[in-house]
Amino acid sequence: MRKRIPLNDRWIFTKQFDEAFLSGNKEGEPVELPHTCAVTPFHYFDESVYQMLSGYRRTVAVPEDWAGKRVFVIFGAAAHRATVYVNGEEVCTHACGYTAFEVELTPYIEPGKERTVCVACDSRESLDQPPFGYVIDYMTYGGLYREVCLEVRDADHISDIFAIPQIPYGKAKTKKGDDAEKIAGRTFRGVVSVQLSCTGADHDRVVLRVKDENGSLLSEKTCGAKDELSVEVPDAKLWDVLLPTLYTLEVSLERAGETIDEKAVRFGFRRAEFRQNGFYLNERKVKIVGLNRHQSYPYVGYAMPASQQRFDADVLKNELGVNAVRTSHYPQSQHFIDRCDEIGLMVFTEIPGWQHIGGEAWKAQAVENVGEMVTQYRSHPSVILWGVRINESQDDDRFYTKTNALAHALDPTRQTGGVRYLRKSSLLEDVYTFNDFTHNGSNKGCEKRKKVTPDPKKGYLITEYGGHMFPTKTFDDEEHRLSHALRHAAVLDAVAAQSDIAGSFGWCAFDYNTHRDFGSGDRVCYHGVCDMFRNPKPAAAVYAALGAAQPVLEVPTTMDPGDHPAAMRGRIFAFTNADSIRVYKNGEFIREFTRRDSPYRRLSRPPIEICDLIGDLIKKEGWKNAKGKLVCDILNLYVRAGGKRLPPAFYVKALWAKLRWRMKISDAFALYDKYLGSWGTAAPVYRFDAVKDGKVVKTVEKTPMTKVCLKAVPDRATVAFGDSYEVVNIRLRVCDERGNLLPYYSGEARVIVDGPLTTLVPGSFRISGGTGGGYLRTLGQEGKARVTLLLPDAEEAAVDLEVVKI
Ligand code: GAL
Repeated sequence: MRKRIPLNDRWIFTKQFDEAFLSGNKEGEPVELPHTCAVTPFHYFDESVYQMLSGYRRTVAVPEDWAGKRVFVIFGAAAHRATVYVNGEEVCTHACGYTAFEVELTPYIEPGKERTVCVACDSRESLDQPPFGYVIDYMTYGGLYREVCLEVRDADHISDIFAIPQIPYGKAKTKKGDDAEKIAGRTFRGVVSVQLSCTGADHDRVVLRVKDENGSLLSEKTCGAKDELSVEVPDAKLWDVLLPTLYTLEVSLERAGETIDEKAVRFGFRRAEFRQNGFYLNERKVKIVGLNRHQSYPYVGYAMPASQQRFDADVLKNELGVNAVRTSHYPQSQHFIDRCDEIGLMVFTEIPGWQHIGGEAWKAQAVENVGEMVTQYRSHPSVILWGVRINESQDDDRFYTKTNALAHALDPTRQTGGVRYLRKSSLLEDVYTFNDFTHNGSNKGCEKRKKVTPDPKKGYLITEYGGHMFPTKTFDDEEHRLSHALRHAAVLDAVAAQSDIAGSFGWCAFDYNTHRDFGSGDRVCYHGVCDMFRNPKPAAAVYAALGAAQPVLEVPTTMDPGDHPAAMRGRIFAFTNADSIRVYKNGEFIREFTRRDSPYRRLSRPPIEICDLIGDLIKKEGWKNAKGKLVCDILNLYVRAGGKRLPPAFYVKALWAKLRWRMKISDAFALYDKYLGSWGTAAPVYRFDAVKDGKVVKTVEKTPMTKVCLKAVPDRATVAFGDSYEVVNIRLRVCDERGNLLPYYSGEARVIVDGPLTTLVPGSFRISGGTGGGYLRTLGQEGKARVTLLLPDAEEAAVDLEVVKI
């Protein structure tokens, strides 16, 4: 029987691999995996810091009872070119930093003896392999940054299982307007075909078992060693973004009635198809609303254990409300994709690369990367499309014919795409996947599909927009942050208007460190709708309003006129998934706003413009309705212009007020002071109530701050470590006493930890633009931990965590 042993602790690391380290004559630093070869500052550092030939060394004890077994080390990832040695002897080299690989130790071990496994890990960007060769807009951190384990198997064992679920056509259709309950009620007779690869052929039977998410057995079938393998799942349910039902297929190899190997894989029943008129999931047309994700984190680059990988999926699905993610620009952690399976987040994953195509050996490696990506990720129901081009590269038909053919051969169930910025380029894939950066804040949201794709019969998907067109920092001024959000809305609205566009992926979910050629000079691309700690910027709420289940109400303004040119507030927007927003000033009703007050016509829950801050208050003047409305219009037009050129309507209305009601400029100023200005008067309190089905579901109040409050929110309350150490993200938010972000607050929170946790990197937790955070890691002990965060200006914040071993 197969035995899996985690191999994440007790590695010895050196930043300089050499003969002495290989032979054990040079000491190193004890480390645990996932590990980054260089801890980096938050920003302002040079990418040379993680470029090195580093070394990892570990002893492996080989017990007597492994005699006759085959032993493998499985590396989740080694960035970027890894040469593996056993007791000084070179065993193999793997040349992709983003896929897993296994190394057989069997010929190099002897039962009862220890062996030393050593990895030379090359993270120099001079490597002649993808993604290297030219410039890259992301950092390519090095090290053994994913988990490693040892597997002991019978000589005859399963090397791979591909579960191919079959859904009877038409039986499992979902419909427009379906919800999770309806999907749960729709059952069918599912069949899983199993493509099994075995090493050795000594077994005589294969037993297939399907279990549900609770581990209950649903069906079992015993097959002969040479049979075609498939098993039925009676009353199967669909995997859908609305209800992601998962199953586990367990495969056992038997010899003379005895189980010699067992391996399991999770799968789901779903049909995903890009057609000329859009994307269909389980025969239901679904608009893809997604974001791109880089797998990097502050300080530790790629090296984050399972929980943080899973947390990113949760942020995307639950906080940002998107239904899909693109793993730009490489295959990402299995933990991340597992979580996407579990929560119903669709994935477009692609091979490593960025614009550059190298020589023949480089291309051969890229083709190999396609093979590894497809075989390693093809049982995940969340994966709906393979990216088989180097992101934004030029056409190369010979090369891309190979990548497409290989993806289709290894997985006949999925379509291919290949991301490009080129219009009408050679379309060898099934879907034209295009980065559309047309929108600049004032023009159309995206291109017409027919202007871009050369083949209108194939599917069409926008794979990037936003990003470098408008980098946005959490500490940028209010108008900038609002404009960032509205640009995302404009593209989403334009995509919604073209029903034959399958959907879009915004650039991008989280800010990330990048090379000197990109970003804001501090080695950060501020392209995220969230900051690097996964705190939302206002743009995040545009997505949340469209897709999140919980009530959303974000009013991204402090209502402080002084933050705007000429002290004019400019346009105010609110992002909500409620039906309307009722606005009050000092408890008095102003007006109710709905999606009719939005300039975006196609989105189901578009940004709503709060275009009138006087509304019913003008009734106090005792004027006729017409006069009151006219005065409101004039003042609101003035304020909305934000100190910029006034629209013609303003002048027409002002003239009418003068002629019809003999109003003077001085009247206008007095009314402005009374209803909109606040100099010298008691500070107004504006209240925004989000109303759904007649009930207030969320309230936001805005008034000048008087107190600084620190909020610390851990990504979970229980930190469970097991095969490796674990990490908890504590997000920080500096707010006023009403919970509104203080967007220009910068500082460092001192961290005091009492219990079995420590800071992942030494130092305090940083805050800029009112948000920030930091990470704590486990130390191998269980217990309760109290984390106290201290800012000079606020009361301390405390977080209680439970650390457990699983
Ligand atoms: C794209 C590229 C991304 C990122 C983005 C920034 O061209 O594919 O990796 O650089 O621009 O907007």
